[in-house]
Amino acid sequence: MNPVEIIVKKRDGNILSSEEIKYMIDGIVDKSIPDYQASSFLMAIYFKGMTENETIDLTRSMEESGYVYDLSKIDGIKIDKHSTGGVGDKTSLVLGPILAALGYKVCKMSGRGLGHTGGTIDKLHSIDGFDTNISFDKFINEVNEIGLSIIGQSKDLVPADKLLYELRDVTGTVESIPLIASSIMSKKLALGTDLIYLDVKVGNGAFMKDLDSAKALANLMVKIGNAFNKKVFATLTNMDEPLGLAIGNSLEVIEAINTLNGNGPSDLFELCLDMSKEVLMSSGVYEDDAKDMVLKVIKDGSALNKLIEMVKYQGGDTECIKNPNKFKKSLYVYEYRSKNKGYIKHIDSYKLGLMSSKLGGGRIKIDDVIDYSVGIVLNKKVSDYVENKDLLFTIHYNDIDKLNNILKELDEIYEIGDEKVNKKLILDTIY
Ligand code: URA
Repeated sequence: MNPVEIIVKKRDGNILSSEEIKYMIDGIVDKSIPDYQASSFLMAIYFKGMTENETIDLTRSMEESGYVYDLSKIDGIKIDKHSTGGVGDKTSLVLGPILAALGYKVCKMSGRGLGHTGGTIDKLHSIDGFDTNISFDKFINEVNEIGLSIIGQSKDLVPADKLLYELRDVTGTVESIPLIASSIMSKKLALGTDLIYLDVKVGNGAFMKDLDSAKALANLMVKIGNAFNKKVFATLTNMDEPLGLAIGNSLEVIEAINTLNGNGPSDLFELCLDMSKEVLMSSGVYEDDAKDMVLKVIKDGSALNKLIEMVKYQGGDTECIKNPNKFKKSLYVYEYRSKNKGYIKHIDSYKLGLMSSKLGGGRIKIDDVIDYSVGIVLNKKVSDYVENKDLLFTIHYNDIDKLNNILKELDEIYEIGDEKVNKKLILDTIY
């Protein structure tokens, strides 16, 4: 075998054997295959695609490139949840505590923000002292004791993905269904929970822009999981507007706390309720009972208490969870008002995600330091009616130059029309 033959075989649209795929992945990880050949391999996959079996083989070779975790010391049903990336997506911070309060064991390794999308790890770092870099033993103990832990992705987890992702990022090969599916699933399988819950975002603020490609990605990831004897669900959710109202690290944590207190935005609550119900129903609970069980752990405060316990276990300041007013606020707030009247037709989530980054809430360069208090809070969502001069959103900022840098983009965020549009949050669920 040699890399050129394998690249040519894929370039010409042929099916690769599992040995050929493993040869390429091993060579990329041990650096015997140089970046230019790895990039050509990725581009050939981007254009010619992969069969389901090839993608399963690719996922296996990637998973085996690093440390495969052993969660057998955790008692109970172990669950991992993953979002393909969206704007305002703080679901893990609500769903994790709900599932822990219901008795599940939530084990999560999360990433930092990527491009216009925020990352759970950055959000958690807005809580003073919160440590996402605890040892694996402490992670296991935490999940056993309180049912929930969210930590950063360890360097040992699928090194092949780190190398491939960095190359994809700079060679125009990110948006490939087999490459995204193998990247996500190799990491989920290496962590090794019993159930993997995928939230596949669709629309302008997501990597998958249309429903057909999102469905293809979701179906493929479920099939990969099944090939490894794992239970996998995928919910397809609308990202044609941000989820909830808040975008930005501490603003999103505050919104997650409010949701666990029963006062969150309706779409975020609906999504977390639906996902929790699916998990309960997969354990044999009837749908109506499942809803009651979720509502109960919100009402009696046990879900919020799980978040407090996790923050305490990981060294964070629990006072700000009990009283979100204690989060450090931005110095200034800028109000943006409507220049028309009518129904909100569309909200550009992609631009809003980038704006939050440019204010300092995300990284433009890999080593940028995050400003946790900045971001955007929406006042109106798609299908709401607005009058001229109604408040559409507020921008929370600390640096006037950063605000000035985005001012010219503000008129492009909201689209207003004459007719009320129908919107749907949960587009499909795939088992
Ligand atoms: N998230 C991942 O982990 N990998 C991808 O390829 C895309 C989103």
